[in-house]
Amino acid sequence: MRRYAVFGSPIAHSLSPRIHTAFARQTGIALEYLAIEATRDTFPAILAASGVAGANITLPLKEVAFAHCRSVSARARRAGAVNTLTRTDAGWHGDNTDGAGLVRDLTERHGVDLRERRVLLLGAGGAARGVAPALLDAGIDALYVVNRNSARADALADALGDPARVHARGWDALPTLGEFDLLVNATSAGQTGTPLPPLPMALAAPRSVAVDLAYGRAAVPFTAWARAAGCAQALDGLGMLVEQAAESFQCWHGVRPDTDPVYADVRRLTDTQPVSD
Ligand code: ATR
Repeated sequence: MRRYAVFGSPIAHSLSPRIHTAFARQTGIALEYLAIEATRDTFPAILAASGVAGANITLPLKEVAFAHCRSVSARARRAGAVNTLTRTDAGWHGDNTDGAGLVRDLTERHGVDLRERRVLLLGAGGAARGVAPALLDAGIDALYVVNRNSARADALADALGDPARVHARGWDALPTLGEFDLLVNATSAGQTGTPLPPLPMALAAPRSVAVDLAYGRAAVPFTAWARAAGCAQALDGLGMLVEQAAESFQCWHGVRPDTDPVYADVRRLTDTQPVSD
């Protein structure tokens, strides 16, 4: 039986084994899918010893995995990070399905039309880098990258290479930016326990959609703010998690699974605030 795994740290509570096992059952593909703990230092040796045909990569390994690849897809190169590895005769091939997963969750599951939208991206780390190119490719009108450390926002904006649509700002500029159609929290504030600096209510309008790339408890502060600010939808990252997994599954097995029943299963399983549509 072919073996696959998700690598990261901490990894014990990863939902990826449950998601991929459900996809495999649904599509009749025989596979084993494990969660393997690895740090930046131990990852190359643990990956080599694991015998996997493919891997998902999560925090804090997406950049290390990128550097470990023999070849990478165009979207992984733009993100500078990989979340999907496929073993080839020449070595590891890296891809990044995070952005496609977010866009698919927003457009297909939640009915969000991204074309010509004004988008706020909070954060400029790996998570922000992973989703920004896909948002631009989906036809948004403007992307404001806002980060506590404004030099990192500048660096991400430069890397995206689309000065007509991408604007970098520091956190202190938030009160001057007006309303956004889509607000994306790609900071790790919810995971680290350090709260986000206050967000002005004026960023949101009744038509706005807010999405936190995290799920579970980590997504609660931002989604609670979004509801209080009057957003039409306040979403967490669970749908994106399932969709990026489906995209990885398709890369490995050439079959696209039906994500709806699997999303319903993991939604039931997590103790998140319910998605408010
Ligand atoms: P990830 O891969 O999850 O994006 P990262 O590369 O360490 O992790 O980036 C974390 C992001 O969350 C950064 O944009 C960080 O802002 P700084 O670059 O200014 O450090 C942001 N972040 C983390 N904690 C935050 C907080 N409490 N408030 C605002 N931004 C925060």
